[in-house]
Amino acid sequence: MSQITFPATRFQQMDTPFYYYDLSVLQQTLSAIREAIRDHAHYQVHYAVKANANPRLLALIAEAGFGADCVSGGEVQAALNAGFSSKKIVYAGVGKSDKEILTALRAGIFCFNVESVPELEIINQLAAAQGVVANVALRINPNVDAHTHAKITTGLAENKFGIAMEDMLPTFQRANALTNVRCVGLHFHIGSQIEQMDSFVHLCERINELQDTLEAAGHSVEHINVGGGLGVDYIHPLANPIPQFRAYFDTFHAHLHLRPQQTLHFELGRSVVAQCGHLISRVLYVKEGHVKRFAILDACMTDLVRPAMYGSRHAISLLDGQGNCVASSDADLRYDVVGPICESSDVFATDLPLPSLQRGDLLALHSAGAYGEVMAFTYNCRPLPSAFYSDELKAES
Ligand code: LLP
Repeated sequence: MSQITFPATRFQQMDTPFYYYDLSVLQQTLSAIREAIRDHAHYQVHYAVKANANPRLLALIAEAGFGADCVSGGEVQAALNAGFSSKKIVYAGVGKSDKEILTALRAGIFCFNVESVPELEIINQLAAAQGVVANVALRINPNVDAHTHAKITTGLAENKFGIAMEDMLPTFQRANALTNVRCVGLHFHIGSQIEQMDSFVHLCERINELQDTLEAAGHSVEHINVGGGLGVDYIHPLANPIPQFRAYFDTFHAHLHLRPQQTLHFELGRSVVAQCGHLISRVLYVKEGHVKRFAILDACMTDLVRPAMYGSRHAISLLDGQGNCVASSDADLRYDVVGPICESSDVFATDLPLPSLQRGDLLALHSAGAYGEVMAFTYNCRPLPSAFYSDELKAES
């Protein structure tokens, strides 16, 4: 893909910070996914709305034919508003409230991913009161290490998610005894930003064992849902904007023993939207410390919390007047790139080589499309960042 150029003339006139979404990158990503699953008619990708619930992005993803993976009643509603078919909505979460369950039941979603027996019983009760039968998949905790950040690992036995493997059969039997739920699937999710396909291979092996156990006890399911988790390149996002979709889907094709007629569902979030989003910020001050040189931005942890929350690092570029990212050179200085908040975790980068910076320079923090805008908050009475899109800005620049 050609190097991205930002509409810098427009940026110069705009208040910062804001999110900028390059919709052509999103379209290319969606096409790459569709291309990678073209030969697998029984694969269905649900976009994990939690990664970014921006209505314009949601509408494009819905239009491209994807389903939605939701984790709250609010997300179910956002997905419906954006045009996702209710028949392609899955709904997970360890703590679904009665009100949220009712929203999903009334919408007639495809499936609830159920995480405990008490939840199963409440869905059954509420479905009975509505006079409907709800499709459910049991979320099984497969105890597979995703080899990712501890705070985004979900598939270990010690995590709060899902039903323990040894409880799968009794839970299945309990579900079968209930009149207003139909147990149609098994659901898994081992974590996020997973870069080694090995972790997904281990997940497949675990699912194969569990399906054997289920069948030996005389049960079967119509679908398997393997969750999300495919990682993106945070180090070279501009050179490598499209994640390894083919390797990812091929891993499941090669290692998962799907039964005839079974469908395979995926819940991809980060890999769909991370690389189309950038947080654009201005340098407020350059402060020459005795030990460090600081670039103090007008963006901070309230706009993009991932660095403060997980210690994650986003690539950062200086934009020139033409909207190109200035390539790094030997003459680069080293900066700690920080926000204005009085929290020592409000740091985007330490000792980052950047061309000499001046007050007013525009910086782009890349790979900010996933878990960026959607996680913004208003600490310090800061306003939430606004969002702009390549089609509206390019037309006017
Ligand atoms: N399915 C389930 C059940 C999930 O819990 C998640 C993410 C996904 C799918 C989507 O995973 P993805 O494809 O995006 O990796 N805020 C953190 C990430 C939290 C992910 C939580 N679960 C971050 O900024 O890294």
